[in-house]
Amino acid sequence: MTAFPDGVTHRHLETVDSTNLVARDSLEHGTVITAARQTAGRGRYGRDWTSPEGNLYLSLVWEVSDFDAAGKYAFLSAVALADALKAATGDDDLPLQLKWPNDVLLGGKKLCGILLEAETKDGQVYLIIGTGVNLTDAPDYACDVQSATGKTIAPMDMAQHFVSSFAAWDARLKTKGFDAVRDSWLAQAHGIGTAIDVKLPQEVFSGKFAGINAGGALLLEQENGAVRTVTSGEVFFT
Ligand code: BTN
Repeated sequence: MTAFPDGVTHRHLETVDSTNLVARDSLEHGTVITAARQTAGRGRYGRDWTSPEGNLYLSLVWEVSDFDAAGKYAFLSAVALADALKAATGDDDLPLQLKWPNDVLLGGKKLCGILLEAETKDGQVYLIIGTGVNLTDAPDYACDVQSATGKTIAPMDMAQHFVSSFAAWDARLKTKGFDAVRDSWLAQAHGIGTAIDVKLPQEVFSGKFAGINAGGALLLEQENGAVRTVTSGEVFFT
């Protein structure tokens, strides 16, 4: 049986606007907020995250050394989610893929999203790692575990697997460094070597996805052979 790891304080709510907003009011390391449904679920780039009952909506509060740590934890969260999905489905070979920086895909369609926000309190930096996992429902562009695999995962089971896996990866990050996270991420990366567009607020860069550097920045090989390092932006496979 799974459980939340030691040091975690879990609070489950039926209906909230957004678990990330609730978590922002409970900035204690190891706080986990889950909700059965969200009325104002938020995605990246200011998008809505549709949140019907049946899926997992979870926010985890994690104290980090400084704001720069956020980038590493974006990758760590994706790798932890992939491990948690494999554990929860009991399928080590579940063909998951990771899309830069931290979407989890199944069959090329989005299965999980992560919204990572940073806050400070009393001089400490806390990350709020908000994750939505499509277990039973997904919009047209995405997919859900039940439809894609025929397996039913209870949201709380997925929550416990995710937080346990996150804590294990956090320990690995602290002992082995970011390379361990990066290696796992790269082993599951979607579309290395293929053509992509990277959309920034004011411009779009096109090229070949050449992997990520030691800090997690996306490497974009342009037509003239030059490699551009991209630290933020939305990736589109062309
Ligand atoms: C994305 O756009 O890919 C990120 C989606 C993140 C959704 C989750 S659901 C739990 C948490 N609460 C929110 O309002 N958003 C995140």
